Amino acid sequence: MKLCMIGTGYVGLVSGVCFSDLGNDVICVDKDVNKINNLKKGVIPIYEPGLEELVLKNIKNRRLNFSTNLKDSVKQSDIIFICVGTPAKKNSNSADLSQIYTAGKEISKSINKFKIIITKSTVPLTTGDELENIIAKKVKKKLFSVVSNPEFLREGEAIRDFVYPDRIVVGSNDIKSMKILKNLYSPLISKGAKFISTKRRAAELIKYAANAFLATKITFINEIANLCEKTDIDVEDISIGIGLDKRIGSRFLRAGPAYGGSCFPKDTKAIVSTADKFKTNLSIVKSVIKSNEIRSDLLSKRLNFILKNKIKNKVVSFLGVTFKANTDDMRDSSSLKLIPFLSKKGAKIKYYDPTGSKKEFKKFKNVEFSNSIKDALKGSDLVIVHTEWNDFKSINFKKFSKNNKLIIYDMRNIYSPYKIRKLGLKYFGIGR
Ligand code: UDX
Repeated sequence: MKLCMIGTGYVGLVSGVCFSDLGNDVICVDKDVNKINNLKKGVIPIYEPGLEELVLKNIKNRRLNFSTNLKDSVKQSDIIFICVGTPAKKNSNSADLSQIYTAGKEISKSINKFKIIITKSTVPLTTGDELENIIAKKVKKKLFSVVSNPEFLREGEAIRDFVYPDRIVVGSNDIKSMKILKNLYSPLISKGAKFISTKRRAAELIKYAANAFLATKITFINEIANLCEKTDIDVEDISIGIGLDKRIGSRFLRAGPAYGGSCFPKDTKAIVSTADKFKTNLSIVKSVIKSNEIRSDLLSKRLNFILKNKIKNKVVSFLGVTFKANTDDMRDSSSLKLIPFLSKKGAKIKYYDPTGSKKEFKKFKNVEFSNSIKDALKGSDLVIVHTEWNDFKSINFKKFSKNNKLIIYDMRNIYSPYKIRKLGLKYFGIGR
């Protein structure tokens, strides 16, 4: 089929490339000329393992193209995916849908035959209805169908999540477009993916409810971890002990520094805002948001305790600063609160991240990027493992550090406390 992806961010670029790899003709559209020119040369603007090879392969097969011309791209396509950003509005919990509606208006000027317009971006409940009204102002209803097809891609695992999805959710209010979408996804369905067809609004809510539940699950185990720290229990035992109950499941049950990223923080707030608009109180999600937000204060207190309230002039090394491993994304990363806290207290902070230095820390005089784990650990008093990159999982600390009073703060519980303490080093984890 001929597909047009509007927006070439994490969702549009990954989905577009993966659809082209399934044999579709895909054109990815963006208004950013530089980005499009780079993509045409196979230069990828985001860090996503495996993406570059797929882009180059499908450019070579001539199934994948890039353009800044939305009108022509829409005209030559049967299915248009809207994959533009829906960031949280400034000083509000609700999502900014201006890019979605602008895309809708642009599309409505280029509908020359029946088209399916799909919201792939995460959009609040009833956005599809609004989009349908916008397009219907210019186009006869029988010439288009607005469908919700939310993505469930995790950064760092996005290609795998596309090719082997737990489920494909399509929300449509007409049978014709549902049949076409089922055909589009048939290569994945034949490999075992579940195809769930719902009403459009249901699909919109499924996406938010999924992310809100995952954020709740993570926050639950983070709070259990707080209790474990007070009662000499290892939270990893609790995660395993409850996770083996198939009704709970072991995934997304790892205690950590707080959930971050571009989705959970935004989507939890957006679903609460939508519910408030419909006079429904999502009290559990509201407390999840609050609990996650105050978690960095808890961790800062713990840092004070670990350094015995003597943070000034201490050398603190961060291993990883992004919101999780296998991504370069800093959005809502807990390091954005922890590093300024330590900087303000007069510590000297060195950080190493496999995806390179971060502009977010440039303004801090006492924060510097180290080009290697070895450099980051040199002269360190406290090592904070902030993300769970494989690169950090078997570091020989005795080789990299002469400090036999070195403290390890393992915020991802990737080490065995016993093994670290056996080296004569001090070990702190999360919930253990
Ligand atoms: C999430 C959803 O997983 C994905 O389905 C949706 O499409 C987009 O949002 P993403 O934001 O890329 O994906 O990251 P994810 O892997 O879900 O992790 C989110 C946050 O939760 C990260 O900060 C991560 O460190 C944290 N996390 C995750 C935990 O603290 N513990 C866990 O067990 C899992």
